Amino acid sequence: MTKRVAILISGGGSNMIRLVESMAGDHPASCVLVVSNDPAAAGLLRAAEMGIPTAAVDHRAFKGDRPAFEAALQAELDKAAPDILCLAGFMRVLTAGFVQHWDGRMLNIHPSLLPKYKGLHTHARALEAGDTEAGCTVHLVTAALDDGPILGQARVPVLPGDTEADLAARVLVQEHRLYPLVLERFARGDLTPVML
Ligand code: GRF
Repeated sequence: MTKRVAILISGGGSNMIRLVESMAGDHPASCVLVVSNDPAAAGLLRAAEMGIPTAAVDHRAFKGDRPAFEAALQAELDKAAPDILCLAGFMRVLTAGFVQHWDGRMLNIHPSLLPKYKGLHTHARALEAGDTEAGCTVHLVTAALDDGPILGQARVPVLPGDTEADLAARVLVQEHRLYPLVLERFARGDLTPVML
């Protein structure tokens, strides 16, 4: 039974694009919706170009009322009836209630080697700490920010003279490799972490 996947984005959606492209052939999942909290997100146009249904729920219309925003988001999701949610560059913090509803079925990609550097500015923090390696993590989403069971990680070297942009670009390449591999395994019911 093919798993139905909804992808949540906030911006360009480069991870979304790779995920959609990966769900081809005998893949155990298919993308049924791409939804953004920003109606102007460039990823919405890219998803539409790939023939994927899209929706936007502008979080600014809810003026900080997270439960109201999430109720509108859930209404869009209900129309597509996804089995799995993939957060891909989705920049809104979700309430415990929403996360609980999707417990065990919602994945996120975070640009650090969790549990290091939960939250924002991960690359700047790794450089500041003088780390010699960095990377990205795909994890199940739980109520605690960037804290759920790890489903995959990819590592990159931190090179002398790296700027934040240099490191972000190097990690992003690995995000695009890692997330599709994790989703394919997860959709088959295999929780064995993908380590790259
Ligand atoms: C990426 O660095 C990802 O790690 C973070 O959001 C950034 C943009 O992702 N979650 P995308 O290009 O919109 O997929």
